[in-house]
Amino acid sequence: MSEQRLLPDVIFKTRVRDESLGGDNPFRWQDVTTDDIFMNKRIVFFALPGAFTPTCTNDHLPGYEKHYEEFKELRIDDVVCLSVNDAFVMYQWGKSLGIQKIFLLPDGNAEFTRKMGMLVDKSNLGFGMRSWRYSMFVQNKNIEKMFIEPEYTDNCPTDPFDISGAETMLEYLRSI
Ligand code: BEZ
Repeated sequence: MSEQRLLPDVIFKTRVRDESLGGDNPFRWQDVTTDDIFMNKRIVFFALPGAFTPTCTNDHLPGYEKHYEEFKELRIDDVVCLSVNDAFVMYQWGKSLGIQKIFLLPDGNAEFTRKMGMLVDKSNLGFGMRSWRYSMFVQNKNIEKMFIEPEYTDNCPTDPFDISGAETMLEYLRSI
């Protein structure tokens, strides 16, 4: 039997639209757990260092949005993008890019990222603690495959983006 690596259990603080609130800004807080997102599902997940940053905005996130239907054809239930940013920032980032299909998951407390061992110091850029860039295929909370960008390190002078993009994940999913 292959070894299981389960995702950490955390509570994400998200904002959801709720028309029953009325008014110009009908959003409320919604706690979302790891189980809510991953339990009994096949999920493609990717994490990146920051909303509104150039590579994340121009390549990483739009790449997954563009290929979303191909992931669905491969029986993926949801595609999730995580960043160590708060829910307001993640919402405005998705809105600015017209993101319709990818679930933008705020890890503002960095708890999930820390428990994944993917938290890095980006103080060299004035960013504080952020997520390293990586992607995963997760089935029922179990990590089946991870693509972790090389040179994982604090205050990395570069921002490697070679293997955590949508194309690599698609190629992998088609091969299994
Ligand atoms: C980028 O996405 O381009 C980026 C990410 C983190 C730090 C600097 C730039």
